Formats: sequence, structure tokens, C-alpha cells
Amino acid sequence: METIETTGPIVRAERRTVGEAESRRANGPDWDRYADEYQATHGPFLGEAGFVWGPEGLTESDLGILGDVGGKDVLELGSGACQCSRWVNTQGGQAIGLDLSGRQLQHSRRLDEHTGVVVPAVQATATDLPFADDSFDIVFCSFGALQFVSDIAHAIAETARVLRPGGRFAFSITHPTRWMFPDDPGPEGLIAAQSYWDRTPYVEVDDETGEVSYVEHHRTLGDWVSLLAGAGFRITDLVEPEWPEDHERVWGGWSRTRGLLTPGTAIFGADLARS
Ligand SMILES: C[S@@+](CC[C@H](N)C(=O)[O-])C[C@H]1O[C@@H](n2cnc3c(N)ncnc32)[C@H](O)[C@@H]1O
Repeated sequence: METIETTGPIVRAERRTVGEAESRRANGPDWDRYADEYQATHGPFLGEAGFVWGPEGLTESDLGILGDVGGKDVLELGSGACQCSRWVNTQGGQAIGLDLSGRQLQHSRRLDEHTGVVVPAVQATATDLPFADDSFDIVFCSFGALQFVSDIAHAIAETARVLRPGGRFAFSITHPTRWMFPDDPGPEGLIAAQSYWDRTPYVEVDDETGEVSYVEHHRTLGDWVSLLAGAGFRITDLVEPEWPEDHERVWGGWSRTRGLLTPGTAIFGADLARS
């Protein structure tokens, strides 16, 4: 068992079953605590009105997996400070952010003021979207809510509900194969040590209180295919960004050492059925 020291409480890492309510109770306050450090560390890489799909630095302007966003109603799940939505709005779209963490959304307000590009945003969970059916043309999520929710089938069903028929859904997540390896950017992170098929969530437990303070959920590639198809989506893309030649940045377990050999990010693109 690993002990982790962060700016918050001292925690120990383990794998254990955690339900939706407990995941949310842990992750909301955790992201509130971590938001200032997250934005200070990663904000310059993300860009105030930039759309980056993951630590490899692949941008939506290069990938274009959402298609033309001009004139489209767009929802971002787990938006953080809404940098991606702000980029969408600079391209003529109308994006709204949604995040569990109030502190992350305060950073969004800060960027609204600094850039003059305003993103309306709501504090809510991806498993219970506060929008009417058929409200959006596009829903997307860049390393946002999806790997933090337990009830993923419900989150995908909610996404399908608020999308218009034929709507576009794209999201990035930690590449599911990464769950086989220790979350270490160095060579240790290249030695498979855990079962790919073990879906038991990664959990951090506060050493003092014994309470769960952070949760991430794992699904295999096959799980994602079944989830999307089962909710009426047709998968069009599975992008596995390669590590760029000139890219040296380390972000958590993502590094050049690992990125040259194993994929760190998976980006799915899917269309909702037309009727
Ligand atoms: C890794 S950050 C990514 C934020 C942003 N997409 C970015 O690229 O900076 C994950 C975000 O998901 C949010 N989140 C976690 N669980 C959520 C949930 N159940 N519903 C909505 N947002 C959630 C967190 O508060 C956090 O802001």
C-alpha cells in the first residue's frame, strides 16, 4: 500500500469498491482543495482559451473530432476552468461548462474576466444533468467527469438524453491499458503489475479520518464500446495520441519515457442515433 503526501491530507492509496454517492462526496471536495494547484501547474499548458485533449498536448484544432462547432450548442462535462469551452466559444460555438467543484468554476470566472470570453457554467454532476432533453448538438469531456463517476451507464444515458438526435459525443480518458501499470512517470511505470480486467476503483483514503478522499474508476476498452453502443451511440473514432517528438512535459504518470512506448490517453468519438 502506497502513502501519498499532497497539499491536502496524508492519504493511502488502495483499490476498493466505491459507489456513486461516495465517489462524489470524495471527489467534489478533493477537486476544491486541488483546484488552485491544478490551475497554477497546468493552466499555462492548457491555455486560457485552449482546447487540449490530454497530457500529450493534442489540441482540438489539430484533431477536429467534434467537427465544426460554429453555431452549435455545446456542453462540457467536468469542465474545470472551462478552457476547452472557451476555445469552442472563440470558434463561434455556444458552450456551457459543468463541474462538480465550485473552486474549479471560480477559476473559470477568473478566466472569463481575464480573456473577455465568457463561458456560462453550472455546478452539478455528470450523472444528473440539469438540462432538458435534446438541448445540445455536442457534448464533450476532456479528462473530465467520466473517470470519476461510479454510475457510468447513467452518465452516458444522461449524455444521450440531453443530446439532439444525431448529436456528437467525444471524450478523453486515461488510456485503459495504463491501469495495468504503476502510476509512475519513470521506468517503473512500464512494468505491468496489475490486471487490466480488475475494475476495482483506485481510492485514496485519509489516514486520519479513514474517509475516502479521492476515487477514480476503470473501464476496459470493451466496456466503453458496450456502454456507448448500449446508449444508442455509433462509435466513429478511437484516437490514441502518440507522444510528440519535442514534448518533454511530465504530467502525473504521463512522461516521454512511458509515452514513447505505451498510449496514455484514449479519445472516443461517437454519434447518437438519429431517432
Ligand atoms: C482532470 S480535471 C479536468 C478538467 C478540465 N477538463 C481540464 O482539462 O482541465 C477533472 C474535472 O472533473 C470534475 N469532476 C469530477 N467528478 C465529476 C462529476 N461527477 N461531475 C462533474 N464533474 C466532475 C472535477 O471537479 C475536475 O474539475
